[in-house]
Amino acid sequence: HYRYLCRRIDTVFMKFDLEAKDAASKARAGKITLGHGIVETPIFMPVGTVASVKGVHQRELKEDINPDIILGNTYHLYLRPQTDILEKAGGLHKFMGWDRNILTDSGGYQVYSLSANRKIKEEGVKFKSHIDGSYHFFSPERAMEIQRSIGADIIMAFDECTPYPCDYRYAQRSMHMTHRWLDRCVEHLKKVPEKYDYPQTLFPIVQGSVYKDLRKQSAEYIAGAGAAGNAIGGLSVGEPAEEMYAMTEVVCDILPEDKPRYLMGVGTPVNILENIALGVDMFDCVMPTRNARNGMLFTANGIINIKNKKWEDDFSPVDEMGITFVDTQYSKAYLRHLFAANEYLGKQIATIHNLGFYLWLVREARKHILAGDFYRWKNEMVPRLGQRL
Ligand code: GUN
Repeated sequence: HYRYLCRRIDTVFMKFDLEAKDAASKARAGKITLGHGIVETPIFMPVGTVASVKGVHQRELKEDINPDIILGNTYHLYLRPQTDILEKAGGLHKFMGWDRNILTDSGGYQVYSLSANRKIKEEGVKFKSHIDGSYHFFSPERAMEIQRSIGADIIMAFDECTPYPCDYRYAQRSMHMTHRWLDRCVEHLKKVPEKYDYPQTLFPIVQGSVYKDLRKQSAEYIAGAGAAGNAIGGLSVGEPAEEMYAMTEVVCDILPEDKPRYLMGVGTPVNILENIALGVDMFDCVMPTRNARNGMLFTANGIINIKNKKWEDDFSPVDEMGITFVDTQYSKAYLRHLFAANEYLGKQIATIHNLGFYLWLVREARKHILAGDFYRWKNEMVPRLGQRL
């Protein structure tokens, strides 16, 4: 009866149509209807932390990479450009010139990973800005207010992402605090009206570290909130992939089937396929963009480091199977040269390539789920993709 104790999220604006379920795995294909269009799932959401997907014009993002939704970060946008500027601009979509959907993370992860001197208490988190060292305070209430000002289509509950490893007692206390924080988010959100002319929907976050019993308890609590979609946090923080899969499996079996499931901060191409097979619908990760800037390219035949001398005179296309214009317009030798010369364009090309690849991967997964042969395809792809980084 634990699940009925929490506050219910009583205004649900979002629609999710489950279109197909894979017979041999728990993979699903669906459509999420939001204020800025339809999101076809499974989806990978490119990370645009500070109102920019690093190195990629919105035009290239839309026309070449073509995601239905991207991600922004409350923590960063609150510190810079700050909410008053975003409000004056008419919200984040208008500010950055992006007319498709946006999801914002709540800051419940970035305060732990980026800021120094953070103090976590029941009331909230006091932290020091990584930009100028100034002190700030985030609470469930502040996270809702700030996300109203930013104006993303999907907003995230304020949570604590536990580190790995994390002892059982800490994980348990933290999970209960995240649940209490969710109740505060839900209550406060009702009091803060939307600022723009489209709805926002709140996703709560399952925690519980790598402990199955905690994950079950958390998934039941989160499911009980009755949100339009649910997220799984606290994973991909250094635990072995097998432990991550064990947790998503336990959680996906409890979270409602008719709502999208979002696995936060995951991951490698292999992690994404394995988690799709376990019933996850949405992903985000800095990996394709961050690693691109270091010369790491993801392809359907594994990972390559374009800085390697072996590409020096390889004039074949960046990726003959790639979906974006950079894949065929430029050669590996040229891209290697740009990295060697430390040209901006190298990082831009690599980023467009990697995001194009990640979006291709989830669209292929979707096609195979709809065609009924996802599991066979996934098992063929996994060894080709290569997990090792
Ligand atoms: N991003 C990756 N993991 C997490 C998490 O556990 N919580 C939040 N808020 N964001 C995340």
